[in-house]
Amino acid sequence: MGGKKIRIGALISGGGTNLQAIIDACVQNKIDARIVFVGTDNPDAKGLARAEKANIPTFVTDYSSIIKEYGENPDAAILPEGFELADIMQKQFLISQDTEPEKLKAFFETRAIAERSLLDAMNQYPFDLLVLAGFMRNLTPYFIDEINDEPGRYRIMNIHPALLPAFPGTDGYGDTLRYGCRVGGCTVHFIDYGEDSGPIIGQKSFPISDTDTKESVIRKGLHLEWQLYPESIQKFAEGRLSVVEKNYDLGNSKSFSRKIVVCS
Ligand code: GAR
Repeated sequence: MGGKKIRIGALISGGGTNLQAIIDACVQNKIDARIVFVGTDNPDAKGLARAEKANIPTFVTDYSSIIKEYGENPDAAILPEGFELADIMQKQFLISQDTEPEKLKAFFETRAIAERSLLDAMNQYPFDLLVLAGFMRNLTPYFIDEINDEPGRYRIMNIHPALLPAFPGTDGYGDTLRYGCRVGGCTVHFIDYGEDSGPIIGQKSFPISDTDTKESVIRKGLHLEWQLYPESIQKFAEGRLSVVEKNYDLGNSKSFSRKIVVCS
């Protein structure tokens, strides 16, 4: 690849095999990108060692301690400047609006504190694209609006272990297997204000047989993730991805509207 290199920031929570695939693709010049930081919500994330080995700066925002400290005295919490609970609540579709108000407040306030800390750390490293590589925390509109600061310009990508919109959540491969699906897969998509609901960039699939186990499904899926993520990043680097609103007339005065990714 010989184009101008984009700067990637990465967030991880665990082992970081996707991070490794992206590091390798960068180092081997398979994609026009370089990683400028790796951040995590988990001080024990094994993937941090992969970043350090590749001389990539790392940082940790310990979500669990932030949530614990908030729980001990919610009234003492110092919320970030500009955080407006009502605005976030109105935009988000991560959590049902029917949830108890106190729970909603605690969720969005703890996340805003944690997200401010991530943003402050990230500010040291200007970047073009943020990739979530096994980052197991939902990001709220507070964080997303800071990154997507130009209307219509999506700058956060995620990889999910299922063929979305089936099986959003934390155990995509397990849910796929338990449901009895004959095909599993992975999805790279842009982040929006919901959970695993944003415009889809790419998907890869694999067959599931009677003899498959959760472990074998994960193995098959991860191998495809390691190809799909670098391929999707390269499309972004080449400036080929745009998000457009599509409206479909379903007849009987019904319509369906959805933002989708178009790849030129
Ligand atoms: C991957 O399977 C990824 O799709 C999944 O976590 C795993 C991380 O593996 N992500 C999610 O479930 C996000 N909701 P890794 O740390 O080895 O890249």
